[in-house]
Amino acid sequence: MPSPPFQMSSPLHGTERRSQFTYRQLNLLASYSTSSPLRVVAHIDLDAFYAQCEMVRLGVAEDQPLAVQQWQGLIAVNYPARAFGIGRHCTVTDAKKLCPGLLAQHVATWKEGDDRWAYHEDAASQIGTHKVSLDPYRLQSRKIMTLIKESLPPDLQKVEKASIDEVFLDLSAQVHSILLQRFPELSRPSLADDPSERLPPPPITALDWQADALVDLEDAEAEADDPDWDDVAILIGSEIVRDIRANIRRTLRYTCSAGIAGNKMLSKLGSGYRKPNQQTVIRNRAVKRFLSDMKFTKIRNLGGKLGEQIVSAFHTEAIEDLLLAPVEQMKRNLGDHTGVWLYNTIRGTDATEVNSRTQIKSMLSAKSFRPSVNNYEQAVKWLRIFAADIFSRLVEEGVLENRRRPKTISLHHRHDGQTRSRQSSIPQGKTLDEATLFELAKSLLSQITQEGRAWPCANLSLSVGGFEDGITGNRGIGDFLLKGPGVHESGEAPRDASVELSAHERPEKKRRVDNPGIQRFFPRKRGSSGGDDEGNIDVGMADTGKAQIETRGTSPKRTGSNPKPMTDYMCTRCDAGLVDAEALQSHLDWHFARDLQEEERGRQTFARSHAGAPRGQRFVAAPSSSRKSARGSASGKNKLEQGQSRLKFG
Ligand code: CTP
Ligand code: CA
Ligand code: CA
Repeated sequence: MPSPPFQMSSPLHGTERRSQFTYRQLNLLASYSTSSPLRVVAHIDLDAFYAQCEMVRLGVAEDQPLAVQQWQGLIAVNYPARAFGIGRHCTVTDAKKLCPGLLAQHVATWKEGDDRWAYHEDAASQIGTHKVSLDPYRLQSRKIMTLIKESLPPDLQKVEKASIDEVFLDLSAQVHSILLQRFPELSRPSLADDPSERLPPPPITALDWQADALVDLEDAEAEADDPDWDDVAILIGSEIVRDIRANIRRTLRYTCSAGIAGNKMLSKLGSGYRKPNQQTVIRNRAVKRFLSDMKFTKIRNLGGKLGEQIVSAFHTEAIEDLLLAPVEQMKRNLGDHTGVWLYNTIRGTDATEVNSRTQIKSMLSAKSFRPSVNNYEQAVKWLRIFAADIFSRLVEEGVLENRRRPKTISLHHRHDGQTRSRQSSIPQGKTLDEATLFELAKSLLSQITQEGRAWPCANLSLSVGGFEDGITGNRGIGDFLLKGPGVHESGEAPRDASVELSAHERPEKKRRVDNPGIQRFFPRKRGSSGGDDEGNIDVGMADTGKAQIETRGTSPKRTGSNPKPMTDYMCTRCDAGLVDAEALQSHLDWHFARDLQEEERGRQTFARSHAGAPRGQRFVAAPSSSRKSARGSASGKNKLEQGQSRLKFG
């Protein structure tokens, strides 16, 4: 048995001392209410995740420097290798100079003609004929996810997979139940009591935080204050997380870091605060101090364009400075919604719910070509791999047993700065197989190539979506994308559950909505960067060692005097920069959703003047050079052909 986490004081019967919290607030904890000041949320993030997957798979020593290689670049670096100064920015050659003992393991790849991915010895030199597979990491991710869920009481858990290597846990209900068990005085003696009555104080004078990194308080006085129930609640949360982490370590051999706090934003900042293999507790009383030292660009949703916009409006990156700005000024600069959101966020307020949905909504397989693909036959070879890739993931989703199946298939093709997309429905009725996917993909490609010049092609991506449960069947397309696709770390302020924004209030106009129908793709809740989408984004690494889906430097349209900051993950369709592969996946899902919406709209328009709609609707994304003006113009100004819609990018 671990030592008791509390030091009990003698009961204080008859004294005036009360907790600052009420019975009502305690009860709110049981229902995961985001308004309970006793709320406990944890964020767990695996340390150097892909690198750890390889270490575990290969059974290498814990102190062995290891990096995961993709072509000539690195996509994950373990902590022993980081000690040599190796980072994701390094090429393999540079990294080996820094640490000759480095083990550089190439990611698994699909080789043309193979029906499954494998670890190929020569993969690094096969960028032209292989495609990266992240399946091994997804598999480990699922195992970890399952273990986390098994570590929690089935009826008192709320787990949100936020990306391939991280989860949020709302521990409130479990903490509530433990509080009542350990402190029977918290059960209200009679229902006749006033719920606004304050709780008795915790019978505790000191809490044992074990090895947790505790965020310091502003002054010694605050530390001297007796703990209140929010401290006790967060301590219980921290015990739960410590057990989960130990369980992951013991069972699957992975280390992870965690943050435990009163909301999602703070817990996520906490998990990154001390790495690897540590957990950080941010007590409510420590929030102010914790945030004041920090740059706001570290906060979820503030890493991207919104963050830049705020920096240029307020001339600072420091939260401390921003705290001096009145809410009115923020509203003026950023719009009412975002202004208020920012004002609250930098004060540590975040009422976002942990959202326990975990079903896959879409799958994508893509590759950027360096050099470009120059003809139909070459492209078809890739489609074969994409189809095999997606199909193998569909099998895991239960497509063979008809548990779930996708309804739509979509192909995006990039040529000369322009992305063309075609979609069609996947015939229902018979069991879906790889050959069908391949045939559909080829047919979509033919439609695109018949439309005009298609070569050279810089990027191809195949995706399936509109998943339906085979047994219950018949869910509408509005169900397929439950997550807010625009809400990712590229920088849009999340929306409140109850607030619908008008386009002009948004810091980025990614979600310009001129048809209320699209609203169903933007749920009235905040999402996370990665969600639980399945994706297999193949980030082509050129010999620069920089991951390039599409880098600005290589595109003639995007050179010039005003280069935007480069991220490793660029959307090939709209130039958005995303923080990681998962965020990019989420972003591409958003495009996919938009396409479907456009398709629906296109179909309606088409149906008005033609008998029967074509099988695959055509969507042409404006080239980046013309996109700016499209953005600025009111919707619907540019004439489109019948059945054709221009995607509106933000
Ligand atoms: N990833 C990537 N490229 C990025 C960001 C992330 O390929 N630009 C992959 C990494 O390989 C990584 C996984 O996504 O293993 C999770 O990313 P993240 O949590 O940001 O980094 P880790 O490598 O896990 O390192 P850390 O210990 O800092 O969490
Ligand atoms: Ca990580
Ligand atoms: Ca992560």
